[in-house]
Amino acid sequence: MDNRVIYLKNGKDVYGKKTELFIYGEKIYQIKEEIKSSDVDNLKKDVGIQTIRIIDLKENTVMPGVIDIHTHMREPGITYKEDFETGSRACAKGGITTFFDMPNTLPPTTSLNELILKKEAAKRKAIVNYGFHFGGSNKNNINEIKQVLKNKEANTVKIFMNVTTGEMLIENEKILKEIFKNSKLILVHAENEMIDQALFLNEKYGNGLYICHIPSKEELIKVIKGKKDKKINNYKHPVYVEVTPHHLFLNEKIRESSERNKLLLRMKPELRTSIDNEFLWEALNKGEIDTIGTDHAPHLINEKLEKVTFGMPGVETSLGLMLNAFNEGKIKLEKIQELMCENPAKIMKIKERGFLKEGYYADIIVVDLTKKWKVTNKELESKCRWSPYENWELQGKNILTIVNGKIVYENGKIQENIKNGKEIEFYE
Ligand code: NCD
Ligand code: ZN
Ligand code: ZN
Ligand code: ZN
Repeated sequence: MDNRVIYLKNGKDVYGKKTELFIYGEKIYQIKEEIKSSDVDNLKKDVGIQTIRIIDLKENTVMPGVIDIHTHMREPGITYKEDFETGSRACAKGGITTFFDMPNTLPPTTSLNELILKKEAAKRKAIVNYGFHFGGSNKNNINEIKQVLKNKEANTVKIFMNVTTGEMLIENEKILKEIFKNSKLILVHAENEMIDQALFLNEKYGNGLYICHIPSKEELIKVIKGKKDKKINNYKHPVYVEVTPHHLFLNEKIRESSERNKLLLRMKPELRTSIDNEFLWEALNKGEIDTIGTDHAPHLINEKLEKVTFGMPGVETSLGLMLNAFNEGKIKLEKIQELMCENPAKIMKIKERGFLKEGYYADIIVVDLTKKWKVTNKELESKCRWSPYENWELQGKNILTIVNGKIVYENGKIQENIKNGKEIEFYE
């Protein structure tokens, strides 16, 4: 079958409006309410191709593929937990068409050379699109940072201001200051007072701050206050904030409910209370949060059960959980699209992705809002093969994933011979 031309008919967008798309090669060639059969003939003539794959979406919802700014794919060095193949397969299944990988690998991604090696591995293995955050090092790698940003090998630098998985903690204030001075957008792992510190460094020396995985009401109030202050948050040094699904859906009470959960549900920042869950949900709906990032941080289940290990997987369940929340009346579909597709593309300045637009890459997903499914460990693609949501019954599921114009996931199955992931590009 020729996959080069795909006509997606009879879909709906997140606003409920009828939407049809004509995909040619890697891009969206046409998108409109209805593409008539005479139009299809013309389009076929236009592009000079006779065979066409027509997919009836049966009024299911079509969205841009999810862009996950925050994942740890564990390659190189920790690939017994995950690698670019298994991690990207998990993404394709979950509805994520682009992931960004974090630098706390072995060795860490703190030199241009390491970044290039990582890119080569992803190019060989990833079935969805990928990008990378370069790592700020406690051994001072300012020259590497400058070079990487100048060559646009990456657009962002990730720094760790608290202890977590990996050995990238930076405590030296002089190094922090230099990194803020010499970077564009900086992503931070910052908890409690470190949030104040990060906001301060960004305001004084920085060019933009993305605060990862805010877990609590107390910390979020601080960030919201900063975001509302024009001195702290402005076009010169904007402030963005991310929440993870686990800080929305899980809490201490669930963690303490069994011996197993006491170990499995450990991560940085730690889970908080249901009051915190509620506060995060309210903020999300009020527009005070910019993105949902999974912080996909796979560890094998034995490692989790043997000793305290921080982090858990997330890419296979993030969209499903949010669609289920939509079905429970907790969030609007267009808000999900904004938080998971559009805002990540804007914040990361990704070229031609994150929106359903003519001329943009055909990174497209179709979700069935009525479909009921159960999260089942043994069906997962991630190498870690467990989920904190095991046995959760959800309504709403990704059923079709298209990456750069090619179908990579359909009818519950990864298309085995399609490897169509590309490194993303930045427009600025
Ligand atoms: C992450 C990991 O395992 O890489 N762990 C975690 O608990 N979140 C690191 C991180 O994002 O802090
Ligand atoms: Zn972190
Ligand atoms: Zn300023
Ligand atoms: Zn993380």
